[in-house]
Amino acid sequence: MNDFVDIGAVEDIPVRAARVVKTPQGCIAVFRTATNKVYAIDDKCPHKGGPLSNGIQHDESITCPLHNWVFDLNTGQAKGADEGSVKTYTIKVTDGRILMDTSEFIPEMAAE
Ligand code: FES
Repeated sequence: MNDFVDIGAVEDIPVRAARVVKTPQGCIAVFRTATNKVYAIDDKCPHKGGPLSNGIQHDESITCPLHNWVFDLNTGQAKGADEGSVKTYTIKVTDGRILMDTSEFIPEMAAE
């Protein structure tokens, strides 16, 4: 069952930038694209742990700031010759507010 929690306004994230949401399972990077879409993925590159929230955003992809692996923000899959993926999280935007499905990372809270 989904358990959406308000994590802030879309406007709080600069265009083509990210904010980090801390969870018991680690940090999640929440991206706002140039077209005002919002995506959430683990803020940890599967290569060597680079902070993807500090990466360069282009279209609906993010380039890791450490060694330039590129990930699709929709799927979390690495692109090109690189292998691996980051976990993606369910987000929805309602009236300019970002709602994240916390049942995916805090099961004990979702059960309450
Ligand atoms: S840590 Fe991300 S590409 Fe190496």
